[in-house]
Amino acid sequence: MGTLEQGKDSANGVINHNKPLSLKILQFLLLFLGLGIGFSILSMCMLRFAQVQNVLPMVQSRIQPCYQETNGIENWIRPPSNLHHSMNDTELLWRASFVPQRKNWPFKRTPKIAFMFLARGPLPLAPLWERFFKGNEELYSIYIHNLPSYKSDFPASSVFHGRQIPSQVAEWGKMSVIDAERRLLANALVDISNEWFVLLSEACIPLHNFSVVYRYLSESRHSFVGVFDDPRPVGRGRYNKKMLPEVKISQWRKGSQWFEVNRKLAIDIVKDEVYYPKFKLFCKPACYADEHYFPTMLHIQSPHLLANRGLTLVDWSRGGAHPATFGKADVTDQLLKKLTEGHGTCVYNNQTTSLCVLFARKFSPSALDPLLKHSSKYLGF
Ligand SMILES: *[C@@H]1O[C@H](CO)[C@@H](O)[C@H](O)[C@H]1NC(C)=O
Ligand SMILES: *[C@@H]1O[C@H](CO)[C@@H](O)[C@H](O)[C@H]1NC(C)=O
Ligand SMILES: *[C@@H]1O[C@H](CO)[C@@H](O)[C@H](O)[C@H]1NC(C)=O
Repeated sequence: MGTLEQGKDSANGVINHNKPLSLKILQFLLLFLGLGIGFSILSMCMLRFAQVQNVLPMVQSRIQPCYQETNGIENWIRPPSNLHHSMNDTELLWRASFVPQRKNWPFKRTPKIAFMFLARGPLPLAPLWERFFKGNEELYSIYIHNLPSYKSDFPASSVFHGRQIPSQVAEWGKMSVIDAERRLLANALVDISNEWFVLLSEACIPLHNFSVVYRYLSESRHSFVGVFDDPRPVGRGRYNKKMLPEVKISQWRKGSQWFEVNRKLAIDIVKDEVYYPKFKLFCKPACYADEHYFPTMLHIQSPHLLANRGLTLVDWSRGGAHPATFGKADVTDQLLKKLTEGHGTCVYNNQTTSLCVLFARKFSPSALDPLLKHSSKYLGF
């Protein structure tokens, strides 16, 4: 009760005007003490931040800390120690378009697959992917593009920890999705070891183990982009004559958004200043840039490098504008058998094969448990 009264009095300034000088000095000192404590806490936080941002990833990838930095070749080989950067898109695309011109690498380069997740928020199927990646640490890297408002909270032990790239809002069907995909490619290109670039969503799963996927991509002479000439209104009907002379209607192509490209095509995409402005101006809904820009541009520039098919299986059998989503009840032995076995045949390096897809979508978060339960039997990991 007494303390309460005292507090109230001083708050009202009752004892203030007959306060001795020494008390005022004491108050002053206390203020400084408070400020000092505030600063200590702030600097501790900043130290923690620096550890999370720099020191930890460095320890993980066994890279020298900055104070030992040399001007040697390692500066050009090692991936950035963290994915945060302050470049805007113009700067990032410019940086990512740098290409070595000599054929011989002056160091041992182990080519990696960049798995690029174009997601809105969390990755509910992450535990399945963790299992897929396990044991192949030297052979892949991961990049995640989220809504900028979403902050991921993967634990430090997760392969997804700290793999979020600086992102912006991407609206489905609009050019901002292309921007997000180019942002993913550009961030991945900065790591000189990335050789193959796979675009995935949070609803995708791998259908085979990592070694099968790695061999399939690394031994292919083609990149897996679906590219076809669709005469219907939903194909050629979306073409706009104002794209001439860069894009003729006979060159207009359509394909699925979920692509796999090699380093050469990834660079062609980030460096494109010819087709991008045309699509930005003249491919707006009901023209969906994500179904036309990459297929058309790559078909015009490098038709011989394309497999003309994607690697991601989507179930359109239920009809409608959106593919079927598999939930808990759908993931049965039967479905997994069907997904991993029967897709007819396709051409791979000029030979007929029955291994035609490596990934499948769409799977809802509830599918995770049955997927984990069956993964070793059907998916091979
Ligand atoms: C990025 O910054 C540069 C330099 O300030 C500017 O010229 C460019 O327009 C910016 N690009 C974007 C996409 O904001
Ligand atoms: C991956 O799957 C293939 C084919 O199912 C199998 O032959 C191979 O042993 C598996 N590799 C690993 C590392 O599990
Ligand atoms: C691909 O296969 C066809 C027929 O089997 C053959 O005529 C052609 O030369 C092959 N092309 C390459 C590049 O091997």
